[in-house]
Order: sequence, then C-alpha cells, then structure tokens
Amino acid sequence: MKVDVLLGLQWGDEGKGKIVDYLAEKYDVVARFQGGPNAGHTLILNNGQKFVLHTIPSGIFLPHTRNLVGAGVVIDPVTFGMEIARLRETGVDPAGRLFISRKAHLILPTHKMLDAASEASKGHDKIGSTLKGIGPAYMDKTGRNGLRVGDLELSDFRERYEKLKAKHLELLALYGDKPTEIAGEKEWLAAVEELLKLDIVDGEYFIHDALTSGQKVLAEGAQGSMLDVDHGTYPFVTSSNTITAGVCTGLGIAPHMVGEVIGISKVYCTRVGSGPFPTELFDEEGDELRRIGNEFGATTGRPRRCGWIDLPALKYTIMLNGVTQLALTKVDVLNTFASVKACVAYKHKGQTTDRVPFDLVGADIEPVYQAFPGWQCELDGEGGRSGLPQTLQDYLQFLETAVGVPVTMLSAGPERDKLMEF
Ligand code: GDP
Ligand code: IMO
Ligand code: MG
Repeated sequence: MKVDVLLGLQWGDEGKGKIVDYLAEKYDVVARFQGGPNAGHTLILNNGQKFVLHTIPSGIFLPHTRNLVGAGVVIDPVTFGMEIARLRETGVDPAGRLFISRKAHLILPTHKMLDAASEASKGHDKIGSTLKGIGPAYMDKTGRNGLRVGDLELSDFRERYEKLKAKHLELLALYGDKPTEIAGEKEWLAAVEELLKLDIVDGEYFIHDALTSGQKVLAEGAQGSMLDVDHGTYPFVTSSNTITAGVCTGLGIAPHMVGEVIGISKVYCTRVGSGPFPTELFDEEGDELRRIGNEFGATTGRPRRCGWIDLPALKYTIMLNGVTQLALTKVDVLNTFASVKACVAYKHKGQTTDRVPFDLVGADIEPVYQAFPGWQCELDGEGGRSGLPQTLQDYLQFLETAVGVPVTMLSAGPERDKLMEF
C-alpha cells in the first residue's frame, strides 16, 4: 500500500478540510504531516454543523478512521485541548481515533510571544503570520532546541521547559520585551498533562504498520504550496514544507511510498496575510469573490485577498508536488459571473513567461488573462461531468490542457454532498 496525498496548490484555504472529510470514508488512516494551529480546515457535517479543525486531521468524524498527528506537525497543547473538548461536545471521543507522534514538536507560550515580537519588529514588512507561534517553534526544531511530545514523558521535562523558556525570555529582551509574566503559561502546563492522556505513538512505525497490514493512508496537507518555506513566495511563507516532499519527512515514509497526489485549487485564488499575489483584484470583481465565496480566514477571521486563478503558479505547484489529480473547489462561487478569467502567463522584465520567477516579492508582474464565458446557473451535480453546463465543461477542458493533469473532483458548495467525482 502507498500513502495518497491531498494538499493545497495555492496560498492555503483551498477547501482541504472539506475534501479530506469526504474522502476519509475510503481511507483507514488520515495523517497530518506539517503545520499546526495556523491551519483552519472547515468541515460541514451532515447535520449542517460547521466545525473548524486546526491540528486534528479531518478524518476525525468518521468512526472507522484513525487519525495521526505526524512528527512534522507543531502542537500547541492549549489549542489542541480546546479542539478535543469541542469534539467531545459533538459526541466524538478521540480514544482509538486520534494518535499523536512522539516526535511532533511543542509550541510554547513564549513561542507565541516571540512570533508577535518578530512581526511587530518588521513593521510594514510583516509576514501577516497567524501569530500561533509557528515560526519560532520550527526555528527551535531546526536549531535543535525544541521540545517534543515524547519529552513530556521524561522526568526532567519541567527543567527542559524552564531552560527553553529562559532562552526565549533572553530573545524577547532583544526585541525590547521584558514580560513580568508569561501569558497562558498556567493553562499550557495544565494542557500538557491532558495531552499526555491521549494516544502517544511512534508515528513512523504507526504508519509503517498500517501500510504493511494493507491499510489505506491519506496524508492531509496544511497551508498551500505557495506558502512552502523553500519553494513558496519567500519570505512571505510559513515555516514548514507544505509540498509532497514534506509527507516523507513529516510522516517518516520513503519517497517511493507516495501514491496518488491530489492537488486542490479554488477556481479563483485567495491569499490571507502579506506577500505577492500577481492576480489580486482590487476592484468590484474582487469584492464579489470575497462576498460570494465568504472569504474570511477560518483561523483569524481576516478578510482574504481575492483574484483570478493563476495558471503559471498552478503549473509550478503541480510540478513541485507531482500532482496526479486536480480537485477544483468553490466552482459555485462563479455561478453568477458572466465571464470568468484565468491568468495564462506573466509579463515580466519585458518578456512573456509561464514560469514563476525567482523572486515574486517586489517583482513587476503583469498577468496576461484569457476570458471565458461563465455558466451562469446553479450546479446540481446531476449527470456527472457531461451533465455540467457546456461552458463549464469547455472551461474544465481548457484547464486540464493548460496544467496537464485531469480534474477528478469538483466542489460546488461547502457541504459534504456538494462534491462531484469524475
Ligand atoms: P482549508 O484550509 O483548505 O481546509 O479551507 P478553509 O476551510 O480555510 O476555507 C475554505 C472555505 O470554503 C470554508 O469556509 C469551506 O466551508 C468553504 N468551501 C469549501 N468548498 C467549497 C465549495 O465548493 N463552495 C463554497 N461556496 N464553499 C466551499
Ligand atoms: P490552511 O491549512 C492560509 C499564512 C499566514 C501568513 C503566512 C505565515 O487553513 O490552508 P504562519 O502563522 O504560518 O507564520 O503564517 O502563512 N497561513 C495561511 N494562509 N491558510 C493557512 O492554512 C495558513 N497558514 C498560514 O496568513 O501569511
Ligand atoms: Mg484554512
């Protein structure tokens, strides 16, 4: 058995939660491999209830699915505890369904303070971080100072915590911050005790055993490929590898164990936080996309920046990830548009190119658009692909030819059943 991957091809919020929740039926294990509470994955359950998951994989609502928070994830025990409490309120008991890798790193309260101090010091150049402590936690991981879930089981955990906290306080002082108390520390220390009561496992063996016993595993990405720390719009990125390569490091599997790679893209494009966005719209069409698409962040509530689909960027992320299938979401948001646009190339330094330049930051990029007639009707999903309006069928065909992978899923509403598979 191989690990199938589902991840975002844009700047996050492509609708990963919804699609994983739908697909989880076909899988025995769903695993998060990177990111942390910066993610907000929205699920609409069959009873219409909306649920936003931050660190817990989106297979958690299916009784037969085991969910793993992999080694590449960073966990804030407080947020995690709150998520579990909300799950219990809806009648979901994590016992036997939720597993946490010993190697996942912990986000400390002081990581969040460092995140805020770093952002404040950047002024206009701030990343627009979710301020969940993601960057500082990954910095401690790669700087070999971090604390891991498995460390909670050690007798000297408290000493290790105090040592790292002292280091953080020194760093905060460099930013001119001398806190007299650590906000949320008491809650954090209580939350780690609760975390310890959950199923803590050796994640890489957990996945290996699942695969060798013939179980199907789906890796659920967080953020999007354009936010990848190595290949995204650096420095306006997150601090982890959001692309398929991150599945190998984040779960501890070999590259040849990767199976299908399902890439998700909205039919238009959004970005939350700062950084380059070549197709961003500042006009009424952008406002329409935000209003109809309800484009407000699931984690921070911030309005998302909106624009047309960016095919050079999409081709780039399809290439980085080895995408084998494309899932297009939020198609219904364009139902009322008389005309739909796609950016097919960039004009950059006097040349027309369909490649993403080294540095999009500050680059003078003019998108080249191609317009298509809109379908201007509701999509009921009846009759499969050939039951779709001809204009939409033609548009899908155009997209498939442009990016070189088949569209196998079309999402036309936030609910579970508003999904067509071809
Ligand atoms: P994720 O981070 O990729 O899981 O995406 P988010 O949950 O942050 O944002 C996606 C938003 O779009 C959520 O509010 C979803 O409920 C909603 N959504 C997902 N698919 C569709 C769709 O096909 N149509 C519409 N209108 N909304 C959708
Ligand atoms: P999901 O999984 C959209 C963005 C932030 C900011 C940058 C760095 O829901 O798609 P960080 O908190 O990681 O230091 O922020 O990345 N960002 C996201 N944008 N969706 C997400 O997750 C995001 N996670 C981080 O807005 O610009
Ligand atoms: Mg989101």
